[in-house]
Amino acid sequence: MNDKWSDLENECKGCLSCQLCQTRHSVVFGMGRTDSEVLFVGEGPGQTEDETGLPFVGRAGQLLDKIMSGVGMYRKDIYITNIVKCRPPQNRDPRPEEQQQCMKWLDRQIEIMHPRIIVCLGRISAQVLIKPDFRVTKEHGVFIKKDDILMMGTFHPSALLRNPGNRPLCFEDFRLLRDKINELCTRSIIADITAQPEN
Ligand code: URA
Repeated sequence: MNDKWSDLENECKGCLSCQLCQTRHSVVFGMGRTDSEVLFVGEGPGQTEDETGLPFVGRAGQLLDKIMSGVGMYRKDIYITNIVKCRPPQNRDPRPEEQQQCMKWLDRQIEIMHPRIIVCLGRISAQVLIKPDFRVTKEHGVFIKKDDILMMGTFHPSALLRNPGNRPLCFEDFRLLRDKINELCTRSIIADITAQPEN
């Protein structure tokens, strides 16, 4: 598994399949546990991610960490990646042809990882992975089984930075996610946040 994964990562890092390769500084392949049962998928790297080569490390990523820790989840226990692995200039939406070309990497990541649960962060990810007409405001927090994987779409953390009024809805989605992880995953990754710290 590790060999397969690092071969895939190396291959992806040399990708020239679409025009995003001309403006990127890094290919952002993903980070976290490749043997996790839970995979998070965002849209595409932003500026900080392009500079560091790591997903969700800018302001949106910090908010994501905060939402996760609110339900006892930590990034080190999941794997996190994006639909497109290279930054679209000026943070525009990745174009359909860019998404389509880049999906070969995510498809292979999913094939190797075999996650039980995929969390789609934002519209683009949910429209690619769940269904093309997915509406985040209407369908967030709903778990749908597809190819034997349970998928759920929720708000993109960047959208929550622009529109903080939706944060409670997203927190509720993460509470549902925590319950699903506890129900389905063989290895618990949820910390008991009600436990008192030891002196
Ligand atoms: N937004 C995303 O969709 N992905 C990242 O990695 C960072 C911001």
